[in-house]
Amino acid sequence: LHVIHVTAEMAPIAKVGGLGDVVTGLARACLSRGHKVEIMLPFYQCINRQLIVGLELTTEYNSFHDGIWVPMNAYRGAVSGIPVILIEPSNKFFTGTSIYGGSYDEVEAYLLFSRACLEWMQVKGVQPDIIHVHEWQTSALCLLYWDMYHYLSLQKPRIILTIHNMEHYGECGQEQLSKCGLDGSIYATVEKAVDDRTIGHNPERLSLLKGGIVYSNAVVTVSPTYLNETLCSGWLADTLMKNRDKYFGILNGIDTEMWNPATDACLPVRFNAQKLQGKKLCKCYVQKGLGLDLEGEGHSDMHSLLNETQRVPLVICISRLVAQKGLHLIRQAIKHVEELGGQMVVLGKAPDSRVEKEFNDLADVYNQGHQIRILLLYSEELSHLLYAAADMVLVPSLYEPCGLAQMIGMRYGAIPVVRKTGGLADTVFDIEDESKRDVANGFVFEGIDEGSLNWALDRAFTHYRERPEEWAKMVKKVTEIDNSWNRTAGNYIEVYNSIRVQ
Ligand code: ADP
Ligand code: GLC
Repeated sequence: LHVIHVTAEMAPIAKVGGLGDVVTGLARACLSRGHKVEIMLPFYQCINRQLIVGLELTTEYNSFHDGIWVPMNAYRGAVSGIPVILIEPSNKFFTGTSIYGGSYDEVEAYLLFSRACLEWMQVKGVQPDIIHVHEWQTSALCLLYWDMYHYLSLQKPRIILTIHNMEHYGECGQEQLSKCGLDGSIYATVEKAVDDRTIGHNPERLSLLKGGIVYSNAVVTVSPTYLNETLCSGWLADTLMKNRDKYFGILNGIDTEMWNPATDACLPVRFNAQKLQGKKLCKCYVQKGLGLDLEGEGHSDMHSLLNETQRVPLVICISRLVAQKGLHLIRQAIKHVEELGGQMVVLGKAPDSRVEKEFNDLADVYNQGHQIRILLLYSEELSHLLYAAADMVLVPSLYEPCGLAQMIGMRYGAIPVVRKTGGLADTVFDIEDESKRDVANGFVFEGIDEGSLNWALDRAFTHYRERPEEWAKMVKKVTEIDNSWNRTAGNYIEVYNSIRVQ
């Protein structure tokens, strides 16, 4: 199979959240199974070019936007062994210091990018079996393909859309759509992609994601439970139900090359399920580095120092600070962990300035002490260190299509404490759930109230403090769980094969 991903994110060069991880991990898994895989990505100005091996300008061509043909540059290279094609428009799209939120019209930028990817395939005579698009940002490619390119020249490719989060619906005005050459009439053949509850009553507001669902050959979402949740409720439930026969739930995996405590270059000491001593040292390293209490300081003997340190559990929460992630529960966890005498590190970035201020205020108070650290930044390196140091990884999301933090945490020996929703429900099973005894690996709560969260944390702390041997066994067990793409990449390949032109 020849698969081209068309995406807004790819780890590590252009990552904001799990989308970047998933694209890289899935591409690598398919490559290792002998398929040809390439990733097309906007050449964001903020990308660190040094991470791209063999970067080379290979094609200069044009793509249509707003009444003119815009000059485009296509570069080729490789990122952590995966072939990439970076598309750079000559206008101001994708400029600025971050992936999202630049001072240009984001919808128009991704519309141009989507069209430019098809244009590149046409110019180069490239006809992959599968074009794999992700999220609203590249959903317009489905519409463009069936409206223009399929009849013009590209006959072979079939399109699969992965939805990572239904709430990002890609609201798009009629006039924005027409700028990329679509007059919007393509929507008339289905239903107007408008939904009263989420977009408002304006019939001019279209959803690119909804268009992608209708005009792709297959739609995948990132966990079986999220698939069921989205069929039962939510603004896209009707559309998904109508397209049920081509809608699949495939659980994400993690890229075990990028996330491997046995080889991780970010860690001061590496470890694995058989030799977990290194994990304890990582914990000490992080505690020292962040100025958290290091019980037993003054011990000359490293072993007694380590044993002392182990009495205080370290909880981490690494997350975009947005409503989806359960902001009030994260705040409550900070408070409750302090009350319980534990330690907690929150590593998060808040795109919303109000939320940022709120967490900054909390940081001003809590970071004075020696139990809590609230770090409002994005740091890939620090995230690796924290996963390695943590005893528990907290994911209290209100909803979570899949969630990678709990899976990465487990691979680094952190026990997950999660809310039962979406992919969290598919990957974390409570140790007190009799029906799941064999796969039990964490602490799960259901309510969105503070009491439910406290209950889970209380149980985790008690377990940690009163049953250290059982805890150690659980750490070994979660480190060995296979949450890699080995488990589910084959499901994607099945879907690819089911839609390809034979
Ligand atoms: P989402 O995609 O909704 O943000 P996921 O759990 O699927 O949630 O993936 C989040 C990814 O982003 C993980 O790899 C996590 O470690 C990473 N991440 C989130 N916030 C930060 C941060 N502030 N610094 C570094 N990595 C982060
Ligand atoms: C989205 C979801 C998250 C998922 C990730 C990768 O950002 O919020 O749950 O793990 O995409 O699919």
